[in-house]
Amino acid sequence: MDTMDALVVEESAPQRLHLDRVPAPRPATHEALVEVQAAGVNPTDLALRDAAPPGTVLGHELAGVVSREAADGSGPPVGTGVAGLVMGGAWAQQVAVPTAGLVVVPQGVDLRAAATMPIAAISALRALRVGGAVLGRRVMVTGATGAVGALAARLASLGGASGVTTVTRSEARSAHLRDLGATETVTDPRDAVAPADIVIDTVGGAVLSRAFEMTAADGTLVSVGRASGEDVVLPADALEGAGGRAGRTLRTFFMPDEPGDLRADLAFLLRLVDEGRLEAGVDHVEELGGALPLLRAGRWAGRLVLALRGE
Ligand SMILES: NC(=O)c1ccc[n+]([C@@H]2O[C@H](COP(=O)([O-])OP(=O)(O)OC[C@H]3O[C@@H](n4cnc5c(N)ncnc54)[C@H](OP(=O)(O)O)[C@@H]3O)[C@@H](O)[C@H]2O)c1
Repeated sequence: MDTMDALVVEESAPQRLHLDRVPAPRPATHEALVEVQAAGVNPTDLALRDAAPPGTVLGHELAGVVSREAADGSGPPVGTGVAGLVMGGAWAQQVAVPTAGLVVVPQGVDLRAAATMPIAAISALRALRVGGAVLGRRVMVTGATGAVGALAARLASLGGASGVTTVTRSEARSAHLRDLGATETVTDPRDAVAPADIVIDTVGGAVLSRAFEMTAADGTLVSVGRASGEDVVLPADALEGAGGRAGRTLRTFFMPDEPGDLRADLAFLLRLVDEGRLEAGVDHVEELGGALPLLRAGRWAGRLVLALRGE
């Protein structure tokens, strides 16, 4: 295939995004060529849509089938079902993927589900690791029905947390959160039954500020995201250490730069999905062209996956 369909940043297109034919990628020696079957959509993709130069093909996570193995022999052979992470280019029929970010998808895992795992699930896993040991400790997760939040809540429960407080605007989904392992669901972090040793915050703004109030002594709040888009304003006594609040840490986070082996982390998470212990959560599947109105509007319900067909 010399050219392929892709969602491309274009200055004159509505919301800078359109479907086009573009040259197929030419992999470097450490990259496998993958025929994309499904690609995930993440909040950062929309931020990049607004900032990336014209001609950029968006998309950071995908699942598909290897159509040409890496020339240096480092990756899986042709025909293998894989999932992976790229710096961009996943919203296309083909993408060149560095084998350091490529794993074999277990037979029992649907490729569409696998495509949603690299960014959200690795972020949830690494954010929990930043917070320290989970076993026997209390964990709070904000934005709990979101992609990262739901996976963090589930992983905290699987990891043996003594309590998992989920914070959500969507009270109607508290039964679902309970299924994931939440021991309580609140709309305001200050309503939690007890302070948490580890807080995974994906919302920012007032939610972060309140969650920091509910961070236990020597506990850590990991600031993963800013879904609310609000500024964080801390009250004057927020950094007070007296009254049993000493030693709390407010920690920034950037998944690609956090320690860990990408391939090992993704393989571990896909194994949990294969074993039925972790849910990938695909809510909405659209082909490239069909997804354009949603991506332009920046709004859809739940987790969106782009489904592609090869040629
Ligand atoms: N630092 C990193 O490396 C890294 C990695 C991955 C993601 N992120 C960031 O983490 C955040 C969450 O990512 P995600 O993929 O989980 O996003 P998502 O699926 O869109 O989930 C975000 C959740 O935040 C909650 N929320 C609360 N107030 C909100 C508001 N005003 N507007 C929108 N959502 C609000 C919602 O959950 P409820 O309905 O339950 O309240 C929503 O489902 C994003 O900001 C993303 O960019 C950062």
